[in-house]
Amino acid sequence: MAPTDAGERGLRAPRGTFDVLPGDGAPRRELGRIAEEILGRAGYEYAETPAFESTELFARGVGEATDIVQKEMFSFEDQGGRALTLRPEGTAGFCRAYVEHGMHKRPQPVKLWYEGPFFRHEAPQAGRFRQFAQIGAEALGSDDPSLDAESIVLLAELLRRAGVGEVRLRLSSLGTAATRREYADELRAFLRARSDELSEEVRMRIDLNPLRAFDSAHPGTLAAVAQAPKLVERLAPEDAEHFAEVQSMLDYAGVEFEIDPTLVRGLDYYTRTVFEFTSDALGAQSGVGGGGRYDGLVERLGGPPTPAVGWAAGVERILLASQAGSLVAGSGEDLVFVALDGEGLERTGFRLLTALWRAGARAEMEQAGRSLKGQLKHASRLGARAAILVAEDGLRVRDMRTREEEPASDLEHAVALATPSPAPVEAVR
Ligand code: HAM
Repeated sequence: MAPTDAGERGLRAPRGTFDVLPGDGAPRRELGRIAEEILGRAGYEYAETPAFESTELFARGVGEATDIVQKEMFSFEDQGGRALTLRPEGTAGFCRAYVEHGMHKRPQPVKLWYEGPFFRHEAPQAGRFRQFAQIGAEALGSDDPSLDAESIVLLAELLRRAGVGEVRLRLSSLGTAATRREYADELRAFLRARSDELSEEVRMRIDLNPLRAFDSAHPGTLAAVAQAPKLVERLAPEDAEHFAEVQSMLDYAGVEFEIDPTLVRGLDYYTRTVFEFTSDALGAQSGVGGGGRYDGLVERLGGPPTPAVGWAAGVERILLASQAGSLVAGSGEDLVFVALDGEGLERTGFRLLTALWRAGARAEMEQAGRSLKGQLKHASRLGARAAILVAEDGLRVRDMRTREEEPASDLEHAVALATPSPAPVEAVR
């Protein structure tokens, strides 16, 4: 990711966005590949929804009282007067798609994963952007606790494979919407009784969203909420049992977690299990990925009652927290460079280049008018294993390590010499 630099005409990318420059893209692609491998193995299929949706979807889905809907959406009216919003998150869109395409008729649970851009008008800082990418997974149509545990294990595995070092997994349960409503009343009464200790912002939101008090960094608020009643202590018996089952499955799977009753997520659709992975490598924006169960969301969007669970992780935050080199795909060792030793040889070179590609090799050709010496230097810089030198009087294949050259009788011969097939297994033994 590169901070943008004003060009000659002073054009800059919008605040809070970034360019992925050539050279920086490979780790992002590698992360997507790892996600596909991990999630594909577990039966999650790749899916997409549009980058903009009706504003009403997020107001209803994410919740009117959330910071996202109140302050952070990029909303606009199109030429036809429709109220639209660049998606701030993916779960609402996939629930809309589930309802719209009657996916409840498919075998349940429907498991899908996604990767793409999301948009939130937040104050930009390290790890916090206005356009960022998420990789996410959703499983709709089952309330089985193993699905909660599976979801968490898959995110833990993604972070491990991406080389995100030390992570903490915070886990809690929010119960059902009804439990939460009753608890919110209890918490409101508690907060009102201690309102002089609270931050202005928390005080203003006691009526609208009292649970946000747990998210505050204000010392007085923190001291007060430390003594507040906790939602996990108010769960209905079946929710408490569900939560206990999720925990014991995580124990069995060897995934370490800590119960954090103050874990509130910034979206209103959660029920029962919620979780968040944090990394100290990230500074203030420590949340690397999180999610939970959202058993009421599909119904709220007009579908049948459909329990579901999922998560999303920030691609840029994973890249920031991942240890150097963890996300570098295979080296450039098998590259073949087509060098031009003389004038007017571009066509032969180009034929060779395309023949190499067809043979499955990674290949590049000289395209900047360098001298032969300059071309060989460039080939070394690219990490080429071999160079094919095209000259007036024929073709030579050069081993870039030993610098030995061997003449090739024709194009096929050159390709074969430059791309030796791997030794048969017997020979290796
Ligand atoms: P979220 O916690 O709002 O959850 O976002 C998930 C992840 O997206 C965060 O942990 C963070 O890594 C990344 N992220 C969020 N905002 C920004 C930002 N401004 N800049 C960079 N990265 C950011 C959701 O979005 C839910 N849809 C997750 C979910 C799926 N729950 C159930 N299913």
